[in-house]
Amino acid sequence: MKKMWAGRTDGALDKLADDFNSSIHIDKRMYKEDIAGSIAHATMLSECGVISHSDADKIISALADICEEITSGELEISPDAEDIHMFVEAVLTERIGDVGKKLHTSRSRNDQVATDTRLYMKSRCQRIEELLLSLIESTVTVADEHKRDIMPGYTHLQRAQPIVFAHHLLAYAEMFKRDLSRLDGAVSRMNVSPLGALALAGTTYPIDRRRSAELLGFSAPAANSIDAVSDRDFAVELLSVFSIIMMHLSRFSEELILWSSWEFSFIELDDAYTTGSSIMPQKKNSDMAELARGKSGRVFGDLMATLTMLKGLPLAYNKDMQEDKEALFDGADTVIACLEVFAPMVRTMKVKSENMLAAAKRGFINATDLADYLTKHGMPFRDAYKTVGRIVSDCISAGKTLDGLTVAEYKKYSELISDDVFGEISLETCVEKRISEGSTGYASVEKQIKSTKEYLEERKEKIQ
Ligand code: ARG
Repeated sequence: MKKMWAGRTDGALDKLADDFNSSIHIDKRMYKEDIAGSIAHATMLSECGVISHSDADKIISALADICEEITSGELEISPDAEDIHMFVEAVLTERIGDVGKKLHTSRSRNDQVATDTRLYMKSRCQRIEELLLSLIESTVTVADEHKRDIMPGYTHLQRAQPIVFAHHLLAYAEMFKRDLSRLDGAVSRMNVSPLGALALAGTTYPIDRRRSAELLGFSAPAANSIDAVSDRDFAVELLSVFSIIMMHLSRFSEELILWSSWEFSFIELDDAYTTGSSIMPQKKNSDMAELARGKSGRVFGDLMATLTMLKGLPLAYNKDMQEDKEALFDGADTVIACLEVFAPMVRTMKVKSENMLAAAKRGFINATDLADYLTKHGMPFRDAYKTVGRIVSDCISAGKTLDGLTVAEYKKYSELISDDVFGEISLETCVEKRISEGSTGYASVEKQIKSTKEYLEERKEKIQ
């Protein structure tokens, strides 16, 4: 098949080189955006008098048919086409002859592909936004149901201080809120139109770039035509956002997997999100969480591939840049697939609060509160810290817990300790008395739940 760009060369490519050069298997998914871009371009060209209204009408109605037929499956996208832009234009010309050939007036595939990719990613990002919101919703719903359930908080994976389970979950809600705000920022910077930049230098035709930008829902035309077709920082930025989302999902996954183990037994994932073993009948494996954790590496790889592809490129367009879409689409697909299972997996997990509490009762996680008790009764904190260290060490040797000691035993360490110590170091008091803003205290957690719910309401209103 002769190429549409045959001219300087005869357009007859070696078969393997032709396959190597083609991107249709990747960019065919942008057919709707490609056609929307062409319709906006043709509309603008006719409004500016570059092509006639009757030609524009023919082009637009044929493009609309092509779009419908691809969607219904009536028209198959040919795997032999070089890319989606060439395919659509070839079908158009086949159908309406010479008029179809006018569409590419004052346009280049360089501004076309940059436009299509941005439009396509805008819609993928909308899906990611919806899914992040539903994950935050799952998280805050489970948090609300477990706002008084005490568990050990960990540092270095060692039991550290008592917290409520809701507080731990709400930490993830905060991360996902920041992910959404990063996504907002990346989308708003991506939301400018390359159309009308042409190959790199703009055009001699009296086009109206503001009009085509407006028709496509972009906030403005890109300010510099070379930048418009050369940079792919929007792809890098989106992949960075996707990578951070995956890193958060991966940490969350890791905890869900740990908590599901017999050793922790803090939660049980619903059967719908676990698998069995082909040989060990007793097994219930957290495959979905493990896959989400595993797939983070692949999205980080997409980001690295894109950065590396761009780093040595001279301006303006180079064919290397065709590689951007494979990485970008894979990153978005992976984030979407992970989020689609994550939100319902979190929502349906069974929380075993009694095991969390039992774990919280071991491990001396109220030791800081005992030190605070001594400090509040007049002992300098560093001395209190040492005294409690001795008490804990003696308890470990004697197989006792802090609430298992008698007042008389406590008095051997310090006269400052009296009867009220037991109330002061009970797990409930440890949580209740955490009054600082953002802490695990009941009041603070209640506030976090409320503000997260308000956040969700506001965001959902914006979407509608
Ligand atoms: N398929 C190409 C891509 O994805 C379209 C742009 C081609 N431009 C060119 N000057 N060869 O990058």
